[in-house]
Amino acid sequence: MTNRIYNFSAGPAVLPVEVLEEARDNLLSLGTTGIGILEHSHRGKAYMAMHEEVEALCRELAGIPDDFHVLFLQGGASLQFSMVPMNLLRPGTTADYLVTGAWSQKAVVEARRCGNVHLASSSEDRNFCYIPKTCTFSPQPAYVHFTSNNTIFGTQFAAEPEIPSGVPLVCDASSDVFSRPLLIGKYALIYAGSQKNLGPSGLTLVIIRDDLVKRGPKELATMLQYRTYADEHSLYNTPPTFAIYVMGLVLKWIKKQGGLAAIERINREKAGKLYRCLDGSRRFRATAEPGSRSLMNVTFVTGDAALDDKFIAAAKSAGLEGLKGHRSVGGMRASLYNAFPPAGVDALTDLIRDFDARES
Ligand SMILES: Cc1ncc(COP(=O)(O)O)c(C=O)c1O
Repeated sequence: MTNRIYNFSAGPAVLPVEVLEEARDNLLSLGTTGIGILEHSHRGKAYMAMHEEVEALCRELAGIPDDFHVLFLQGGASLQFSMVPMNLLRPGTTADYLVTGAWSQKAVVEARRCGNVHLASSSEDRNFCYIPKTCTFSPQPAYVHFTSNNTIFGTQFAAEPEIPSGVPLVCDASSDVFSRPLLIGKYALIYAGSQKNLGPSGLTLVIIRDDLVKRGPKELATMLQYRTYADEHSLYNTPPTFAIYVMGLVLKWIKKQGGLAAIERINREKAGKLYRCLDGSRRFRATAEPGSRSLMNVTFVTGDAALDDKFIAAAKSAGLEGLKGHRSVGGMRASLYNAFPPAGVDALTDLIRDFDARES
């Protein structure tokens, strides 16, 4: 095997080695079928059995009841920025958006093409370094949309926002889906691109309550209606078969770790260790406010761009890749998704301490 290094990339991101090994073993023949996983027809028995198993695993791990559909789409989370308002926001109605980063802003741009948008809260005033504590909702929102984890700014909702009762809550959970137990009853629709916590890119997981599917307009293009995917079990057209297969392996891996509660414990330990190290550092500081800090993407800076670059270069030569922060925050970002190994956090905290000692 080639030597693997610590990959802190924000996505596509690290996957468990045992998942990659199993996928590799099934490339030439899925089980004893004599046909590789990339080559199986999506209408064939072998694929169909796997497709159903992946949906069942999603339901089991996250406790998703029967009145929710589990759908496999394409187009990334970005297409959901459009599909959500196309299906849920009728002309003349208003959707409320909680704006906590660049991805929520993009979602707002698309929603405005379909109807009225009310910004119920925003943390733009301080470059999105915090999650606002209060929201001001419009009188009768069609739905409330929020981004549970802000991949770029390193902030995360510790819990679901409190919203008026009866209003559908819609969540972009692209960068923290299945990183902790899911209180599905609080949501009407959850969507997530797969390339951070679920598998390779190319698949978008959508979990949607049945009444929202039924309410969607029928005059939309077929591929833009949730109904199409719900009615056809995500097999109206060719689904992203390989990404679904790998997501299934990742879900089995999560189950083996003990499920979502166990995964959350591990994620808390990993992120906690890194934040404690940053809080104790002379040179580095986390950019997100305590209380709003993400367990998935830890953003930090030295306050000196040249020193940040020096640190990133030192990390690279020590086998720590993907630490450069997004240009809108600068500095560093360590993405610690489910599959990121705890030993990689130890390697990073050791390097931070070394750097602190050398550069002060
Ligand atoms: C929170 C969030 N939403 C949406 C997106 C866009 O996802 P995609 O590239 O799958 O369209 C990203 C990508 O990083 C993200 O982090």
